[in-house]
Amino acid sequence: MKIAIINGPNLNLLGTRETSIYGKQSFQEYFSELQFKFTEIELTYFQSNIEGELIDKLHEYGFAYDGIILNAAAYTHTSVGIGDAVKAIESPVVEVHISNTFDRESYRHISYVSPAAKGIIVGFGLASYELAVQSFL
Ligand code: DQA
Repeated sequence: MKIAIINGPNLNLLGTRETSIYGKQSFQEYFSELQFKFTEIELTYFQSNIEGELIDKLHEYGFAYDGIILNAAAYTHTSVGIGDAVKAIESPVVEVHISNTFDRESYRHISYVSPAAKGIIVGFGLASYELAVQSFL
């Protein structure tokens, strides 16, 4: 089984960015732990701060992978293009967020990804990604 994790803007700074919200662990370190836990799955990781690059990766992985875990970060709340890309591809997409976006500013309550997502996992810290992997098993 092939699963891709796609992270959007500012998530390259996990571990140092707003640690009271996002925690102190880098995503690279967490991703290694995930690979160790799920050795039977081929896990791929991509991060970009650029909207078009995220859309290109959705197109690339979206016809080749069994599932995509997408944290579009701030673009979740603004990007019609990313929402359309999720609708356009074949692979099921699970939307994840580290923080509970519904317990934050009202502009974070909107998601252009959710209507096209297979499911949504929000607010479990980095464990949101592990729960998303499990949802594909
Ligand atoms: C986030 C929540 C978004 O509102 C925010 O812009 C992020 C991270 C999360 O994982 O909690 O960058 O997607």
